[in-house]
Formats: sequence, C-alpha cells, structure tokens
Amino acid sequence: GIDVGKLLKETGYVTFDPGFVNTASCASAITYIDGDAGILRYRGYPIEQLAEKASFLEVSYLLTYGELPTADQLAAFSGKVRNHTLLHEDMRRFFDGFRYDAHPMPVLASAVNALSTFYQDSLDPFDADQVEISTVRLLAKAPTIASYAYKKSIGQPFMYPDNSLGYVENFLRMTFGVPATGYEVDPVVAKVLDMLFVLHADHEQNCSTSAVRLVGSAQANLFSSVSAGINALSGPLHGGANQAVLEMLESIHAEGGDVASFVRRVKAKEQGVKLMGFGHRVYKNYDPRAAIVKKAAQDVLARMPQPDPLLDLAMQLEEIALADDFFVSRKLYPNVDFYTGLIYKAMGFPTKMFTVLFALGRLPGWIAQWREMMSDPANKIGRPRQLYTGSVQRDYIPVEDR
Ligand code: ACO
Repeated sequence: GIDVGKLLKETGYVTFDPGFVNTASCASAITYIDGDAGILRYRGYPIEQLAEKASFLEVSYLLTYGELPTADQLAAFSGKVRNHTLLHEDMRRFFDGFRYDAHPMPVLASAVNALSTFYQDSLDPFDADQVEISTVRLLAKAPTIASYAYKKSIGQPFMYPDNSLGYVENFLRMTFGVPATGYEVDPVVAKVLDMLFVLHADHEQNCSTSAVRLVGSAQANLFSSVSAGINALSGPLHGGANQAVLEMLESIHAEGGDVASFVRRVKAKEQGVKLMGFGHRVYKNYDPRAAIVKKAAQDVLARMPQPDPLLDLAMQLEEIALADDFFVSRKLYPNVDFYTGLIYKAMGFPTKMFTVLFALGRLPGWIAQWREMMSDPANKIGRPRQLYTGSVQRDYIPVEDR
C-alpha cells in the first residue's frame, strides 16, 4: 500500500532498491559472476580450474594480491601464515566465558572482533605494513579460533596448532585431535576440505561481503569489519543455509523420506517451508560450485562404511525440482550449499560447525574486498538513503494529557 512514486518525489528522487537487487555498491576487480550463464571466476580464473588445481592458500594469495603466486611467493606466504597460528594465552581464556553449548558462529565472530584488542599495533587501514600483518594474522588465527569454538562446545581441551602441517591439515587436527593421542589427518578429507574452501573463497558483493565493506567504509579495522561479515553469514538465508539443508533432509528422513510430499509443501508455500540450498540472488542457472560439490559429495560419501540415506534424498529432491515447473520457471537451481552439509557431516563435523566452515573459506574474499576498498582513493563511507513513511510533523503532548 505504499505509494513509492509519491515518496520518491518527496525525497527528491533517490534510487529505491530494497535488497540492492540492481544497485552496484562498488567497482571491483576481484570476482566475476555471470549468473545467467553459471560462470564464476576469481581474478579471471574459472572456478572449475582453481577448484581442481589450486590450493586454498594459493587462492587466498590470488584474491588478495591479484595474481597467482610464484612457487617462492607461495612458500613465503604460507610460511608467514604458519608462523601466526597461535593465539595469545589471554585469548585462549576468552573462550571460557561462553556457555558450554554456545553456537560456534557468534563465538568466532566475537573472537575475530577481539583480535583487534590484542593487535592494536596493526589496526591502521592505510598503513600497508599493518594491513599486511593483520591479513596474515587473521588468516592464520581463524582456524585456531574455529577449532577452539568447537572444542569448547564439546568440552574437550584445546589443541595447540602444529605448524609443521598445512593450513587445512592443521585445522582438522586442532578440531578432531586430543592432546594425549594426537590425530592422523586423512589426506583425502584434507584435500576435499581445501577444495571446498576454494569454492567459498569469494563471491563478490554478497550479503556478508557487503557488510564487511559497509563497516570498513567507516574506516573500521580489518578484524572488526570481518567480524561483521561473520555475523551476516550466520543468517539462514546466507551461510546458515548449509546447516538448514541438512536439517531439512533429516526432517524429511525422519518423516519417512517422502520427497514428493515435501516438494508439494514447498510449492504450496507453506509457512517456513522452502527448498533450502536452492535458489540464488545472482545464479539463475546451475551454480557452477554446486556441480563440483555434488561430485565431491558422491566421492566422499562413497568412502563411508555406511551409505548416508540423506545423499539419496538430496539427489531425489534435485531431480524432482529440476523437472518441476515451479522451480524451473523461477530459475531455482541447487546452490553451493545444497551438498556441502552432507560432506561436512561425513567428515565428522556437527551441523553447528557448517557455517563456521563457510566462514573459514570466505575469509580471503572478505580480506581482499576490504583491502581493495581501503586502497581505492574514491572510497566513501557507505550511507544509503531512505524513503520516509512515518508521521508528518506533530506536536509533543505531555504524558498526563495523552
Ligand atoms: N524454495 C522455494 N521457493 C523459493 C526458494 C526456495 N529455496 N527460493 C526462492 N523461491 C521462490 C520465492 O518464493 C519467490 O517465489 P514467488 O515469485 O512466487 O514469490 C521466487 O522464488 C523468487 O525468490 P526470492 O525470494 O524473491 O529470491 P531472492 O533473490 O530474494 O532470494 C535466496 C534468494 C535468499 C537465496 C532464496 O532463493 C532462498 O531463500 N533460498 C533458500 C536459502 C538458501 O539456500 N540460501 C543460500 C544462498 S547461497 C549462499 O548464501 C551461499
């Protein structure tokens, strides 16, 4: 019932674009998406090639500095990241303050924000050396923080990082190992997780990246800006979707596995019933990452001693949806998160950790976008306009007369 035309006139012709469906907030040279054609490229390189051939730290370097590293550059970068994985002992104690069953996403967001209190020497967004060291610290410490959030939630002691290990191997060991017995990392699991991080590493101006940029546009430091991104990612319509997909599959399974009747409920638009992991603001075609993840899910789950019935349910759902006019006409295809939860589950992660894994993957994208914005002389503080729909001027009435 709102007369937008009238409001626009009153406001003096601003652009009214709820959800920023058609508004470019910045110019960026990092990630290219063609949603109709199902294309995703980081710095010009197709996601399919990077997923198959590049490591996560290599992709982090590419996103952050614009070019693929030489072998020497990659070794130097990986070495720096390895050297900064430890948390300050006071930071370790920070985790004690949370409830034993705290969700690891807000714990991660809080701890990343708290890094700014430990590294006050590197918060100047315009000092190249400080930006460099905070980039390395954040990339290096996030997996340690994420694994501590997990350990806290299951009441196990924290594992110190082992800097002889690679990025993902170290994270897996800190997450699943215990100090007394250590942990042998399965190389296949490490490789697939590294690849999933690559697939999540950037996705141009999505909700969490826009949050990072908006907070950063006020010249907030890297840790605070990325912490805002982690909070944005925690929402079920964004990063929380991978958890929501698994919960959806589990509830269909618990109710007898009737996929067709679930699809009918989605099509009837029953309150709160959506086909989670389907649909995307930008992709109006098969999400190129979803195709890669589907293959990885089949490979990883084939190695399990018991087949997971949820994989079969997911494939049935996909098959029905792709042949159904409700989904086809709305261009609803599986997105990256439709199959990731199944892989994380097979790796042993509880559902609560799924969004945290997304955050670890997205970290280099947030960092690269924040750095790109900070180095752009045209950067201005983000400050959208509004269309005012409240009361016109009225006079104050004392409380005893109301
Ligand atoms: N299941 C059923 N119907 C859907 C779904 C879905 N997953 N997604 C969209 N629709 C329907 C809407 O009801 C709407 O129908 P209508 O035209 O009859 O009203 C139409 O498709 C268009 O949907 P919008 O909500 O307008 O699309 P929008 O671009 O705003 O939303 C979003 C995109 C949030 C991703 C949406 O598709 C969704 O909620 N999907 C499920 C959650 C999910 O998987 N999120 C992960 C996104 S990817 C990521 O963050 C990595």
